[in-house]
Amino acid sequence: MARILITSAIPYINGIKHLGNLVGSMLPADLYARYMRARGHEVMFICATDEHGTPAELAAAKAGKPVAEYCAEMWAVQKELGDGFRLSFDKFGRSSSPQNRRLTQYFAGRLAENGLIEERAERQVYSNADGRFLPDRYIEGTCPNCGYDRARGDQCENCTKQLDPTDLIDPRSAISGSTDLEVRETTHLFLRQSALKDRLDAWIDAQEGWPILTTSIAKKWLHDGDGLQDRGITRDLDWGVPVKRGDAPWPGMEDKVFYVWFDAPIEYIAATKEWADGEGKGDGAWRRWWRTDEGADDVRYVQFMGKDNVPFHTLSFPATIIGSGDPWKLVDFIKSFNYLNYDGGQFSTSQGRGVFMDQALAILPADYWRWWLLSHAPESSDSEFTWENFQASVNKDLADVLGNFVSRVTKFCRSRFGEAVPEGGAPGARETALIADLSARVRAYEGHMEAIEVRKAATELRAIWAAGNEYLQEAAPWAAFKDDPDRAAVIIRLSLNLIRLYAVLSRPFLPDAATTLLDALDAGDAAWPEDVGAALSALPPGHGFTVPDNLFRKITDDERADWQDRFAGTRG
Ligand code: MF3
Ligand code: ZN
Repeated sequence: MARILITSAIPYINGIKHLGNLVGSMLPADLYARYMRARGHEVMFICATDEHGTPAELAAAKAGKPVAEYCAEMWAVQKELGDGFRLSFDKFGRSSSPQNRRLTQYFAGRLAENGLIEERAERQVYSNADGRFLPDRYIEGTCPNCGYDRARGDQCENCTKQLDPTDLIDPRSAISGSTDLEVRETTHLFLRQSALKDRLDAWIDAQEGWPILTTSIAKKWLHDGDGLQDRGITRDLDWGVPVKRGDAPWPGMEDKVFYVWFDAPIEYIAATKEWADGEGKGDGAWRRWWRTDEGADDVRYVQFMGKDNVPFHTLSFPATIIGSGDPWKLVDFIKSFNYLNYDGGQFSTSQGRGVFMDQALAILPADYWRWWLLSHAPESSDSEFTWENFQASVNKDLADVLGNFVSRVTKFCRSRFGEAVPEGGAPGARETALIADLSARVRAYEGHMEAIEVRKAATELRAIWAAGNEYLQEAAPWAAFKDDPDRAAVIIRLSLNLIRLYAVLSRPFLPDAATTLLDALDAGDAAWPEDVGAALSALPPGHGFTVPDNLFRKITDDERADWQDRFAGTRG
């Protein structure tokens, strides 16, 4: 039994996540966590909301709420939607937690002690009306290049020219619209990532079997241009982790907070402490996952994220960890994803384009979405959600293959033998062949799950379901029943056991369907089929069951067309 620490990139607090966000980290992380638990390993699965930064402040202002209140409410919404999708986090924490505040300040203090923090003076735009410094993208004005009157301080959306806030004609605050702006000097803390470059480089080189998508992004940031840049880790904002040096004040930094990307990954650790605190456990309970000097050298740590997050997880967060000089656990494997597109374009939170988690669950139960998303995970390239494809996959894989098998077997048994596993007969060559085929397939499925090859795992699982259908079709118990009821009994006994096997194997993908099946079969034991042959006689003759309700319903053409219409525009 191993110990496996799993983290999913923590979603931003400002708004409900779309299906692209879900499949880019939280959902595949859940698949892996469920699989590893099913294999008997000890799992700690962590996620949280990413609550700091200007976007959170602005979203709160737009909602007319104090930012802390807005975040608390949105955390509850995201938590409930995560539960709705059956994301089995051991802890869904909050980056605004006191645990994260202290830990972030602690890390900053350690980095400073190790000479890795530098103060630098900068000139930035200050808005007198707003009483704050404005980040580049919150300054608007007229583009000097094309005359567009809503160009942002970092770039003109109209002509794409990169800008400096001071280039803008008639600049104003995007928050209040005020033109009472001035340039002021402000001092910020920089993490000297350049001083850690060689250690990071060596650490990346030492990793074996990392996906190319992960290492190539890290290498690019390490070596392109001037190489790894030092990084500003403080901001002139109100909302965030106040800048301190451990527990001590940081002179000159009193009105500043840490940059959101500095404290967000530290929340992986802090959320594990939130878990321990919530369970009334001592510090040892979380530290054994994170401190290599307190047991975490046995832990395998796997992170899940979209490709835009890779630089922060291959370089910035490891720089914090390594730079601290403490024996914190570094990641062992990074699984990164490309993007999921929506019907010919991109999912977009700001434009409300695509299907969002709450909308999806209002249409169909979680398993339908989990299956489509995971079996189409954007692993080797971007992938695309279309309603046609969704309808086809659900109807074929879930309804025709898995659902139909369950319904045929259980209904046939009820009508001919009653609601108990039938007795009589002995397995023959067809059964032996099926067991051999399935044994090989289950081992292949395990291999893909262990390697976190999500699509390949889904394909193998579908093939395992299909093998049962083919067997049933060829063995034809309805024909055998007339002349040789014992033969029909053998086939149905095996098929009922196949349903139990399918429930166990499918559980990481389809947790609700698996529960329905295990309940209907009254199968107390959902142990992983180490030995497929033995697993297929787990339900003995005479064991009672009930016919489950229709597992999956088909999506009609009318429904598909209706949803296609409803989700064609942007969210109101
Ligand atoms: N909130 C970021 C996003 O959704 C991810 C943060 S991951 C962490 O892209 F490492 F910072 F935690
Ligand atoms: Zn322009």
